[in-house]
Amino acid sequence: MPGAIHAEGLVKTFGDVRALDGVDLDVPEGTVLGLLGPNGAGKTTAVRVLTTLLKPDSGKAVVAGIDVLKHPNEVRRSIGLSGQFAAVDEYLTGRENLQMVGRLYQMTARAAKARAAELLERFNLAEAADRPAKTFSGGMRRRLDLAAALVVSPPVMFMDEPTTGLDPRNRQQLWEVIQELVAGGTTLLLTTQYLEEADHLAHDICVIDHGHVIARGTSDELKARTGGERVEVVVHERELLATATAALAGFSKGAPTVEEHTRRITVPVTGGAKLLAEIIRELDTRGIEIDDIGLRRPTLDDVFLSLTGHVAEAPANEAAEQQQAEEAAK
Ligand SMILES: Nc1ncnc2c1ncn2[C@@H]1O[C@H](COP(=O)(O)OP(=O)(O)OP(=O)(O)O)[C@@H](O)[C@H]1O
Ligand SMILES: [Mg+2]
Repeated sequence: MPGAIHAEGLVKTFGDVRALDGVDLDVPEGTVLGLLGPNGAGKTTAVRVLTTLLKPDSGKAVVAGIDVLKHPNEVRRSIGLSGQFAAVDEYLTGRENLQMVGRLYQMTARAAKARAAELLERFNLAEAADRPAKTFSGGMRRRLDLAAALVVSPPVMFMDEPTTGLDPRNRQQLWEVIQELVAGGTTLLLTTQYLEEADHLAHDICVIDHGHVIARGTSDELKARTGGERVEVVVHERELLATATAALAGFSKGAPTVEEHTRRITVPVTGGAKLLAEIIRELDTRGIEIDDIGLRRPTLDDVFLSLTGHVAEAPANEAAEQQQAEEAAK
């Protein structure tokens, strides 16, 4: 039986850019797929194709049992979408925005009102509910947009970076809402930059880069491929970076990453807290003073690094901005 979301060989080009370069996806009913990838990987393009907002150059997609290319209108009736950039009506209040969505979906005025009140409460917006959305902060808009996507409970949901820009408490609350939805049988495709989020919510993870799926599996499977935990050391003196890197090599299960400007060395390890103590002793013996040391779980960057052999690239304009910022800071 095909899953609730099924895509095969999706290709989408914009001029020279192959935003999707043959993407296959399968999301079984009632499960969450986390679509991970750096900026420009093709996540939003995939979501737009699957939600009928964009026609692929080739490939096929079936959502909730309906062919996306042949019957886009029927697909739209079965899905909910929360886009990467919040789409709320600035002049309506939070409450009015949600009630309007309910009415658009042919709920009775009374049902729409009740649903709006329930969602405002759930998304921590009750206090601000009667203010125009244009007075909302970024995080409040984000939450209002997510609430709007949940006014009706469609069987298949798409969320494009739902928690980007949310503070930790609101992120946590959204995770709870998502978990309830999925427990109720909803199928969800979620894009995110946070491995932690995918870890928490997704049954399966799909990593894409340059329009290609470069890895898929459960969070544990992906982490196992990245080689377990990381030790991060910040050395006090930049001159000792090379010496410290050499000292850490003996504990490392893979290539160390060195970040010159922050004086930070990261090495994949297995062995946990006990190893941390050994590393501190070793550095001390060699007379290397450290500002910070810690053990952490792999992040999306680590998964990325080990999958592709390079750190996730920032898109050209962001890289340039970062460079400018660094120049300015000098
Ligand atoms: N309408 C468009 N016209 C031209 N190029 C586009 C268009 N939409 C996307 N692209 C390009 O396609 C590639 C994939 O973009 P997409 O928005 O899917 O990335 P993403 O993975 O969602 O990135 P982000 O994490 O920054 O949201 C990028 O190189 C982007 O510049
Ligand atoms: Mg995007």
